[in-house]
Parts: sequence; C-alpha cells; structure tokens
Amino acid sequence: MSKATNITWHTSTVTKTDRHAQNGHGSSVLWFTGLSGSGKSTIANAVSNELFRQGINEYVLDGDNIRHGLNRDLGFSDYDRTENIRRIGEVAKLFVDSGSVVTTAFISPFRSDREQVRALFEQDEFIEVYVQCPIEECERRDPKQLYVKARRGEIKDFTGIDSPYEAPERPEITIRSDLLTVQEAVKQIFRYLQEKNII
Ligand code: ADX
Repeated sequence: MSKATNITWHTSTVTKTDRHAQNGHGSSVLWFTGLSGSGKSTIANAVSNELFRQGINEYVLDGDNIRHGLNRDLGFSDYDRTENIRRIGEVAKLFVDSGSVVTTAFISPFRSDREQVRALFEQDEFIEVYVQCPIEECERRDPKQLYVKARRGEIKDFTGIDSPYEAPERPEITIRSDLLTVQEAVKQIFRYLQEKNII
C-alpha cells in the first residue's frame, strides 16, 4: 500500500525486452536463502564472478552489506526481517528490469516473505536457491563467531537458535553446501540458467 497520492507510474521507453536483445542474455534473480554460515554469500559471489567473466550483466545484493546502508534502520525482529526482505525484493526487481542477473544473499527465513517477493516477478524470473546445510555444520564453521555468541545469549533472535528458519518447500534449486564444493555449486546453478535460456 502506497502512502503517497497523485503519483503516476512512468513506463520507460527502453523496455526490459530491448535490454535483453541488446545484451544477448535474459535477466533474473537468484534468490539465495539459508542459515547464517550456510554459504549463501560465498556461492552467490562465485556465481556473479563467473557471470561477469562471461560478459553477463550481474550484481550481488548481500545481507551484511545492505544492512550497512539501505536497511541500516532495521534489526532482526520478525517485523524488521520482513521489511528487509520486502525492500530487497523491490531492489532486485529493478535490477531484473535493468537487464541483470542479480544474486541476493539473505537468510530470508520466512516462507511468506519469499513468496511475496516471488509474486513481484514474471514466471521464471524468480529462482529460489536453497542453500541447504545442517545447523551443526553452520555452527562448526561459524565464520563470524555469531553462533558462539548466540549460544552464550549475547545475541538474541538468532536464526536457527531462538528465531525460526522456514526451509523452502519447492525451491527451483537446492544446493547441498555441506556436500558440494563452491565450484560444483556454481556449475549446478549455471546448468539451470542455461536450461532456462537466461544465459
Ligand atoms: S534476514 O533474516 O533479514 O534475511 P540478513 O540476511 O539480512 O537476515 O542478515 C543476516 C546476517 O546478519 C547474518 O549473516 C549475520 O552476519 C548477521 N546477524 C546479526 N544478528 C543476527 C541475528 N539475530 N540473526 C541472524 N543473523 C544475524
């Protein structure tokens, strides 16, 4: 629901289809979801590097980075996480419209929030990538030492400890990050993008 009145939507004269034709590839969002420490950012960055190397327009929207700027007013309550994901969804939509393959790396723990984002996109534009990894393994990796702090009670509402994570039911892609190397995960995602004629 919009607060402002007397605003009109301007359709740009250059369309998404024009951009696809000029770029020689399509655009989509690879929406990574998974626990903290599951490997979302690592795999999303590796995918984006490979897209760049191949001359494909790409961009990464990453949880920790976006929370320093656009979403610095948001914390980790259920409400704030929902608003975080809503805003990222809108930003991702702009990137898709601009002709990029955008990867997003946010825990995005709530199924309904992810479905709201999916609803912003056309068929096949929204690709949910579930980075599946047992919490025991995420906790063992603990790259930012956050699980250890959450267990000590120094961080509250931590996903997987005292805040829920709702796994996707029908993700387009599931990456078993406890079993695959980063390069294998990248290959799996590229196969999907090629099958769908996005790249
Ligand atoms: S989301 O739930 O709103 O999607 P987001 O991906 O933006 O989360 O941010 C998660 C990152 O914030 C984690 O990778 C971690 O580095 C950091 N973080 C800090 N506090 C928390 C917390 N309470 N729960 C989860 N992640 C947290």
